[in-house]
Amino acid sequence: MKTTIAEVNKYVGESVTIGAWLANKRSSGKIAFLQLRDGTGFIQGVVVKEEVEEEVFQKAKSITQETSLYVTGVVREDERSPFGYELTITNVEIIHESTDYPITPKEHGTEFLMDNRHLWLRSKRQHAVMKIRNEIIRSTYEFFNENGFVKVDPPILTGSAPEGTTELFNTKYFDEDAYLSQSGQLYMEAAAMALGKVFSFGPTFRAEKSKTRRHLIEFWMIEPEMAFYEHEDSLKVQEEYVSYIVQSVLKNCQLELKTLGRDTSKLEHIKAPFPRISYDDAIKFLHEKGFTDIQWGDDFGAPHETAIAESFDKPVFITQYPKGIKPFYMQPAPDRDDVVLCADLIAPEGYGEIIGGSERINDYDLLKQRLEEHGLTNDAYKWYLELRKYGSVPHSGFGLGLERTVAWISGVEHVRETIPFPRLLNRLYP
Ligand code: 4AD
Ligand code: MG
Repeated sequence: MKTTIAEVNKYVGESVTIGAWLANKRSSGKIAFLQLRDGTGFIQGVVVKEEVEEEVFQKAKSITQETSLYVTGVVREDERSPFGYELTITNVEIIHESTDYPITPKEHGTEFLMDNRHLWLRSKRQHAVMKIRNEIIRSTYEFFNENGFVKVDPPILTGSAPEGTTELFNTKYFDEDAYLSQSGQLYMEAAAMALGKVFSFGPTFRAEKSKTRRHLIEFWMIEPEMAFYEHEDSLKVQEEYVSYIVQSVLKNCQLELKTLGRDTSKLEHIKAPFPRISYDDAIKFLHEKGFTDIQWGDDFGAPHETAIAESFDKPVFITQYPKGIKPFYMQPAPDRDDVVLCADLIAPEGYGEIIGGSERINDYDLLKQRLEEHGLTNDAYKWYLELRKYGSVPHSGFGLGLERTVAWISGVEHVRETIPFPRLLNRLYP
């Protein structure tokens, strides 16, 4: 019976054939242990010299790392293996021999691994991270579909810059100037006026010269937008959503979390509601903690966010930032004009901001004024302003950065391991 590693549990005691690669190998004169992977999982295959033909044993002993094979063997339950099953191999058929595979089981430096990202992806840790990424994507679609949202796809080539004009990737759109999208938000606002509750999931681009463990040049964002939702309504969706994806990973990715050595006790209690702290109080808190470098009106740096996050064991919303450090589209607070109805959600354990969101300005004149203040008066924003002319309503939305969320839930240090082919400062290959 031809099957996959993920499905061997259906064939305990039976003989199966699996297409696989050799991940690693240990052998002595009498027995060979083959660590096999087939994409769906990892399993140990055991070849006992006395139980197979001599030719099979000799072949098994000499297989090189990443050689592709068909292995045939009997599935056994095995309590010692984290996976729970083992294969007693009866035959091995080589498909293609791999020679001098560069990523050996010994330690390698990060630059070397990044140069070999196309191969590094095959390793057990990277496999686990990609499976967790997939589970977050899967449960995202599930959450929004179950809650009445419609998936809408905003364009990638755009003429507008919702998050400020300093970090844009320019390109030519025939004779016109265009940019790669830094956020689909403005289009999602138009979509919310057509479909009520919408969400997008797509790549976004920031020409940021930041070289930190949280910044990618190309990253994937989930952007929900909701008509008739005020700021507080949106925070509720955010905490429910983040709880949902964390609990889905806990439910469906136990093996992967174990492979990564993730302390799951730090995730189990991640359930709504999440704490909220205002920007004003966060500044006071930082001063009390001895951060004298930050003043009211400044944006937080990574050390500030981490210090705030450390006093909570769940993600924390920092609300109502000064309008000067936030984009043009945010609704002012009802009782004061110097702060806006927004929140950043800061993940625990130093992973930083995973969501940015706000209520949007719905008044035509106020939005027009804010666009003018930001010098955004060209055609690219005309249609956006027009949304406030025909039945404007309160509405809110947010963007969750997928890679930072994967990093936090997986417990991996750097976002470069959370996307198959990271685009980083000075790295476009592979
Ligand atoms: O806070 P940001 O810039 O918000 C927006 O783009 C809004 N227009 C979203 C919306 O309201 N629809 O980005 C949202 C999130 C951040 O919280 C962060 O998780 C992630 O996107 N992000 C990055 N992730 C990796 N690398 C970068 N350079 C990132 N920049 C933002
Ligand atoms: Mg932000």
